[in-house]
Amino acid sequence: MTEQTGTAEQIVLRPARPEEIPVLLALWARAAKGTSITDDAAGVAALLARDPQCLIVAAAADDPATPLGTVIAGWDGWRCHLYRLAVDPDHRRRGIGAALLAAAEERFAALGGRRADAMVLDDNALGHRTWQAAGYHPEPQWTRWVKPLAGGAS
Ligand SMILES: CC(C)(COP(=O)(O)OP(=O)(O)OC[C@H]1O[C@@H](n2cnc3c(N)ncnc32)[C@H](O)[C@@H]1OP(=O)(O)O)[C@@H](O)C(=O)NCCC(=O)NCCS
Repeated sequence: MTEQTGTAEQIVLRPARPEEIPVLLALWARAAKGTSITDDAAGVAALLARDPQCLIVAAAADDPATPLGTVIAGWDGWRCHLYRLAVDPDHRRRGIGAALLAAAEERFAALGGRRADAMVLDDNALGHRTWQAAGYHPEPQWTRWVKPLAGGAS
């Protein structure tokens, strides 16, 4: 992903840098909804090692080093999965979330992706409004089935 300037709140959208992993984890701790089994330094480092462009950071144009929001635009060659859409609570409702999703979709389109999806908690009304505003809709016929892997957290 090339760095670009967004229209919302004069933000820049850029790939995350490995050296800012602790800052991103702190942002998720106060801004993201729920926690993930991969929310640790090793998990994010593995993500960036595999796909250095997939973790998109939004920052103020006049302070590009400080992340204000994130989304993971994961492409595995088959499907397009969105994770960790989160915006700093002090900077919400200014278009950053929408700009992050637009950047993720731009990446997916460039990679040949055909459909984007996200897991959204049923009780996350704020998330529902954001996804809906960006054109996403639920598919209630699906339920996530999981199995912890050896060596991973439950
Ligand atoms: C969801 C989240 C990322 C949205 O970020 P944001 O930067 O505030 O979103 P935007 O300003 O781009 O809003 C885009 C649209 O979503 C909808 N929306 C977002 N927040 C809303 C709110 N509090 N109430 C109503 N609609 C809302 C609106 O339609 C909005 O467009 P508008 O402002 O022109 O009306 C942010 O609230 C957040 O980090 N929430 C906690 C984490 C989370 O739930 N993430 C989703 C996990 S699935």
